Amino acid sequence: MPAPTPPALEVRGLSKRYDDGTVALESFDLSVPDGSFLGLLGPNGAGKTTLISAVCNLIRITAGEVLVFGEPSHSMAARRWVGLAEQDVNLDRFLTVEETLLYHGGYFGMAKAEARKRAAEMIDAFDLRAKGRVRTPKLSGGMRRRLLLARALMHRPRLVILDEPTAGVDFELRVELWRYIRRLHEEGTTIVLTTHYLEEAEALCDEIALIHGGRLHARDTAEGLRERYEAHTLADVYVKALGSPAPEAPAPAAA
Ligand SMILES: Nc1ncnc2c1ncn2[C@@H]1O[C@H](COP(=O)(O)OP(=O)(O)OP(=O)(O)O)[C@@H](O)[C@H]1O
Ligand SMILES: [Mg+2]
Repeated sequence: MPAPTPPALEVRGLSKRYDDGTVALESFDLSVPDGSFLGLLGPNGAGKTTLISAVCNLIRITAGEVLVFGEPSHSMAARRWVGLAEQDVNLDRFLTVEETLLYHGGYFGMAKAEARKRAAEMIDAFDLRAKGRVRTPKLSGGMRRRLLLARALMHRPRLVILDEPTAGVDFELRVELWRYIRRLHEEGTTIVLTTHYLEEAEALCDEIALIHGGRLHARDTAEGLRERYEAHTLADVYVKALGSPAPEAPAPAAA
């Protein structure tokens, strides 16, 4: 029998105390099976971005261990397997859309021809054709979000981490991004997504992890959570589990 594949992400006893003494994560454990789609929900300051930053080696962790497909997160293999779209839109203002993607490909060791082909594919997929040679400060907010996602996927990561990918995005683009993210998942990519839109988590994710105060409070399917908390909606679960009001629903569709 073939050996079972290791989880896409395994976090054990992860703690993070920032230099100013803020404890953002405490003895955090989480396992994300290969091919699954996990939503991270929790109020502002819960520790979601800190968790993601630890997985992506953007911060020094205080204690614990992070494995990506069985390899330490700081290994070259793990770095290549992960694609991150950060919460903050962090695009290089001196690069064009196409250059942004090509540089990213180069960073991950893609050959030039392959990177060019993949960049063209991403530009097509995210409807950025008209903007390929435009520098990033000249993009609209929604276009920047699309480019962030395209860049995260450029090197064909096995685990894609999306930190509030639809924040500040209009209804139409949100639906479009959902469609793309769904397709990615159907193709076998493991996805971890944070969002403040409960309906987004429910529509997309297999499972939802509720995080508060740097700790994991519950983790289950949306249905499992509703049963466990005897709640009718995910918003009720949120209030019961985390003790704070659920975030506002996204603005209704613009005409
Ligand atoms: N560089 C930093 N230095 C000190 N404290 C920090 C730093 N980054 C984050 N924190 C603190 O760590 C805690 C967790 O923050 P984090 O950004 O992980 O939350 P989050 O769940 O992503 O919130 P949001 O939903 O607002 O994005 C907060 O108290 C925050 O102020
Ligand atoms: Mg965050």
